Amino acid sequence: MSWLRSKDSRRDSVIASPNIWKWPDIYEVENHAQDAGDAIWSELSAIAPWIGRDVVDVGCGTGFHLPRFAETARSVIGVEPHSPLLGHARNRVLEFDHVNVLQGEAARLPLESRSADLLHARTAYFFGPGCEPGIREALRVLRHGGILAIVDLDATAFPYGTWMRDDLPKYQPLLVEDFFRRQGFSLRRVDTRWVFPTRALLDEVLAIEFSPRVAARARRETTGVTLDVRYRIHWLRNTLS
Ligand SMILES: C[S@@+](CC[C@H](N)C(=O)[O-])C[C@H]1O[C@@H](n2cnc3c(N)ncnc32)[C@H](O)[C@@H]1O
Repeated sequence: MSWLRSKDSRRDSVIASPNIWKWPDIYEVENHAQDAGDAIWSELSAIAPWIGRDVVDVGCGTGFHLPRFAETARSVIGVEPHSPLLGHARNRVLEFDHVNVLQGEAARLPLESRSADLLHARTAYFFGPGCEPGIREALRVLRHGGILAIVDLDATAFPYGTWMRDDLPKYQPLLVEDFFRRQGFSLRRVDTRWVFPTRALLDEVLAIEFSPRVAARARRETTGVTLDVRYRIHWLRNTLS
């Protein structure tokens, strides 16, 4: 959780993501474990159906979510600022002619105005209080009626959120939610289960997500190979023409 400790107050710049930057292979395990029942996907498709539409995934990391969008979207663009991850993302989508991966960041998208129907950002802590430039940029790129959907962890929920708050005592989840409410976003909370193939892999993921002390607490408080994790989806429809 060092990403939040090290952030500066400007949310329109790249925020270090040690979990995926340093350990992309373990983050891949984490991504495979997440949302085992597809609860996030089903909420997202209810909010912003993307069949035949143009989708942008901002902060796409290694591009894990791009193929899922590509199954039915007209086009998909992954945007990621961290150069070493771009190669991972591009390799992942080689088979798709309608998917591209571009270098860029939320507040400066390398995209034409009014070119997308859904702008998605997952575990996107670069979207939070102070990210107004990123929201404005998303609304520039979205067509009238398009949706900005920001998917992030819900630190109010037990147990995963309890560990997040233990690691980040200054983090105030309700202030984050209030920020989005004031910007006009609607909120959906989504309960998910992360399911790992082995306990050893679950423990490795805890080790990249938390400080050693909190990871040890999380290991003690977890039995088996699953974690219950709640997300929040903040979404906003573009009313600009
Ligand atoms: C926790 S990772 C999530 C990656 C991907 N969305 C996923 O779910 O697998 C957060 C990503 O956001 C990227 N990032 C950090 N600051 C950003 C910014 N200002 N704009 C866009 N992406 C950013 C990081 O480089 C990292 O790849």
